[in-house]
Formats: sequence, C-alpha cells, structure tokens
Amino acid sequence: MSKINKIAVLTSGGDAPGMNPCIRAVVRTGIFHGLQVVGVKQGYQGLINNNMYDMNERSVSNILHLGGTILKTARCMEFKEESGLEKAYQNLKNRGIEGLIVIGGDGTFTGAERFSRIYDIPVIGIPGTIDNDLYGSDFTLGFDTATNTVVEALDKIRDTADAHDRLFFIEVMGRDSGCIALRAGVAGGAEAILLPEKETAIDELIENLKSGSNKKTSSIVIVAEGDKNGGAYDIAKKVKEHVPSYDVKVTILGHLQRGGSPSSFDRVLGSRLGYAAVNALLNGETRKMVGLKGNTIQLAELEEAISTHEFKLEPDLLDMVDILAI
Ligand code: F6P
Repeated sequence: MSKINKIAVLTSGGDAPGMNPCIRAVVRTGIFHGLQVVGVKQGYQGLINNNMYDMNERSVSNILHLGGTILKTARCMEFKEESGLEKAYQNLKNRGIEGLIVIGGDGTFTGAERFSRIYDIPVIGIPGTIDNDLYGSDFTLGFDTATNTVVEALDKIRDTADAHDRLFFIEVMGRDSGCIALRAGVAGGAEAILLPEKETAIDELIENLKSGSNKKTSSIVIVAEGDKNGGAYDIAKKVKEHVPSYDVKVTILGHLQRGGSPSSFDRVLGSRLGYAAVNALLNGETRKMVGLKGNTIQLAELEEAISTHEFKLEPDLLDMVDILAI
C-alpha cells in the first residue's frame, strides 16, 4: 500500500441535500489522517479549469445544515472528451493530488471510472442524488430530505384539495426512478402513484379514482416525472377528458425538491460515507463506491454501480398503495 498525501474532493451533477455534511466528513477525516485536502469547485469543470483551493478544518465549519454544495456543481460535457480528461489529469498532477473523491450520481461515476482507468489516479465515489437510483447503496444522499420535502408539500396540497373537493396531480422528480414518488406517496396517503418502473394504464387509474370518489372528498395522484404516460399535465388532461366532472389541478414540485436543510438521516449518511471514502483511499482502494447496505457501509465496484440496474421500489409499499387508499 503506497501512502498518499494529498486528495481532492468534488461534487458533480445534480446537487443533493447531504452533500455538505459529506464534504465536511471528507475534509476532517483527511486532515485527521495527515492528508492535505483540496476542494474542487464546480465538479469536473473545476478539474479542467484548475478551479481548486486548499481546505482546512475550518473551511467546513457550520455547513452541516446547509442544502446545496459549498463546492458548487455542474454537468460537465467537456469531461466526456479525451482533451477534457487530459487537462484534468495535468491539473491534478501539477498540484500533487494522489486521490480523488467524487460525490454525485451515475453520470459522475461514469466519468470517474473512465478517468481513473486511463490515468491511474485512485478514485472513490459517494452516491449523492435525490433519485436514489444507484446500485450498491440502499440510500443515496439527498433522497430522504427530498422525500420529506415532497411529503410536506403534499400535506399542504391535501388541505386545499379537500377544501374544494378536488383531484390533484403532483409531479415529483425522478427521470428513471420512482423512489421519491413511492415513499412520499405512501407517507402522504396518495390515492395513486405513477412510476417509471411500473406501467399504469390511464383507464385503470380512472377506475381506481372512481371507486374512491363516492367516499372521498379529495384525491391526490403522485406522478414521477419519468412515468411512461407523460407528465402530470398530460395525465390530468386525459383523466379530465374521460371524467369531465372532476375538478382537476396540477402542481409540479420541480427543483424545490433539491434544496433545503438536509434531514438528520442525510447528515448522518453523508458523514458516514465521507469518512468511509477517505478510509477507502487510505486502504489503497480505487474505482469503488462507498454505499450503505443494511445499515453497514460497504464497497461496490464503480463499474457495477453504473451498469447494474437495481429495482429499488419496496414490493410491500407497491402492494399497499391501493389498499391503504380505499
Ligand atoms: O438527477 C437528479 C435530478 O434531480 C432528477 O430527478 C431530475 O430529472 C434532474 O436531476 C434535473 O436536472 P437539472 O437540474 O439539471 O435540470
């Protein structure tokens, strides 16, 4: 095992609440072990533009409760090109950086995996995305906070839906993942939940809504943005065409789901994963992702985390949606 002295940390892709507690853990664990820690601004763009700074214990003071990421983030197209990778490598080399920790989702990991294979800089990935769609970790950073944000919004919409006897369609984030939709829907008592992983025919949805409408004053349907029927506006339009008597409204929650103070779960998860990532680098690991499996921190191959698609929706939650909505 060769001793490393200097590491860098970055956040990339969509920000997620919990990234700041995670950066804090990386910086302080690194410094505790005698490492110099460099913060890279704006993800891979910062590697390419040499936008980095030396961090110390105090650089991460009072950030546990902050949403977003103090390191900023970006979706960087240039890092997909050979020339971008080369620039990033030269900048790391010139600064004497011998290990890299990347916090992000599958796009971030794809870049990290390729970079580390070509340039032989050890890389450890930390799963940070509100979508919870990565193999190798039961939960990703930001998912719990985003779900709580949706539940809070859903409770408020329920008040007004009930006051007017309305049917609401609430669209939540998740291009390929129904994790936020399912958990928030169960927590908020949604009458139906439409998910990218499971097809729901519109007439089946209408039948479900009709069967409840005799007994219920309001109904809420959660639509994950990646659902095959289209977005919440399309679905609401189709339902209204079939049942014109419904008073239908649509709310798109959008990016408010990505912000806000991280929940205690995400703060603890970020701290555990940041701590584990530094230890993994010190143990000579590379191209691995640190993840949470059954309340233990485990390592998975980055390549596997990118290429394997895990069905993350809890079967009992899927089964109970209609039953608990009778
Ligand atoms: O990957 C997380 C995510 O929030 C998705 O749920 C969503 O589809 C996407 O990012 C939005 O990305 P952007 O902020 O770049 O529009």
